[in-house]
Amino acid sequence: MSNLDPTQLVIFGITGDLSRRYLLPALYHLCKDGLLPEQLVIIGTSRQALDLDDFLGHVEVCVLEQDKVCDPEVLNQLRALMRLVQLDPTNPEDYHKLKLTLDSVEDEFGTCMNRLYYLSIPPQLYAQVIQHLGEAELNASCAHGNALTRLVVEKPFGYDTPSAQELIDRTGQWFGEHQVFRIDHYLAKETVQDVLLFRQHNQSYETCWNSATIASIDIVAYEHLDVQGRSFYDEIGALRDLIQSHLLQLLALTTMELPEKDSSDSFHASKEQLLAALGAFPADQVATHTTRGQYIGYRDEVGNADSMTDTFAALELTPPIPRWKNTTFRIATGKALDAKRTEIKVTLTDGRAVHFRIQPEPRIAVDNDPSAVTDFSGVERPVNHPGADAYERVLIDAIRGDQTLFASSREVMACWHFVQPILDEWAKNAVALQPYEKGSDPIHIWRP
Ligand code: BG6
Repeated sequence: MSNLDPTQLVIFGITGDLSRRYLLPALYHLCKDGLLPEQLVIIGTSRQALDLDDFLGHVEVCVLEQDKVCDPEVLNQLRALMRLVQLDPTNPEDYHKLKLTLDSVEDEFGTCMNRLYYLSIPPQLYAQVIQHLGEAELNASCAHGNALTRLVVEKPFGYDTPSAQELIDRTGQWFGEHQVFRIDHYLAKETVQDVLLFRQHNQSYETCWNSATIASIDIVAYEHLDVQGRSFYDEIGALRDLIQSHLLQLLALTTMELPEKDSSDSFHASKEQLLAALGAFPADQVATHTTRGQYIGYRDEVGNADSMTDTFAALELTPPIPRWKNTTFRIATGKALDAKRTEIKVTLTDGRAVHFRIQPEPRIAVDNDPSAVTDFSGVERPVNHPGADAYERVLIDAIRGDQTLFASSREVMACWHFVQPILDEWAKNAVALQPYEKGSDPIHIWRP
């Protein structure tokens, strides 16, 4: 077991999709690898009273294992860490009961424990749950010790600029910025972390990592999967779902100044500076420099015959940033395409390119340059086994209190500020919605 502080991990919405598909498998894996705190209690909340064995019996906990089969001993260990609590997230009374449970666990262990609240619930409930946590004094640490209390939230953080600001403000009434861990699971993907390592380890590239030698940067996240009947997607669309969050984060990592220090604060300062410098996408270029598409069959799938939601979104810009003033940035994403492919391609003015392949088969490659350092598998990281899942890193970092891989409120706001003019112009139908066949090659929808 690792030497992490005693922790109570409270997962709100333990029966939800996120928890079953990602969190529990990641916890199983961490348990198997002995990476969890020695003193840990995982408290899952759900609206219904549930029996733990019954519940676990219906979760595919071992999807991350090669053979998808659980080791019964590890499963038992995980089970022993878990407790289920019935809680209606909209009922303030239930938070007082939760507090009693958490206090009694601390009595049982005879120690103050860090508290980590993971909101694995619909985003519409975030503000309310945060307020109830605050009102029940669950945002405070243990009265007679210096244990820490943290909040983990999943995207989407807001729906547009005003709603994101409101959520950030309401969260800020109860939790300080250093207590809030906003997950962007792309930041925890291995090759994404390696973008920075590549820049740090290849000085010959870093010294000319600018418009003089880089002609364009393409960031794409193409998915083969369709929206899989998730009707809430109809409120979101591809621009909000992937570009506002994951892909702008990737752009920031690729183009920001390298952090001055090896610290989370320095890392965020660099990213925030880049995203702020991007400004807002020029409204007068939306019609000419953005594309939106929707796959045929989508409307039936979500049961909205008039839906104008984008399942494909792309944009191109020359950023108002001196370092990048002659470089073209292109970002695109879409669902129901011919294959899954997420990558960053940095094309040099001599025609060669640096490829950061994120998925499938993560790897970094530089055309015609065998001397470039591209393998960082030996770098020491808290979760280091090959094929580690992003959620394993996210959970361990939140437990350790390392905010590096989480999005700060300034980053979130800068990203909304950037996409807002596109959202506004699209809402006015300034750009036609292009229908495309499922399984299309993106080149048929968008040709930069
Ligand atoms: C999520 C989006 O953030 O990322 C999903 O909401 C998308 O729509 C998913 O499918 C893609 O993640 P990954 O890790 O499979 O590329």
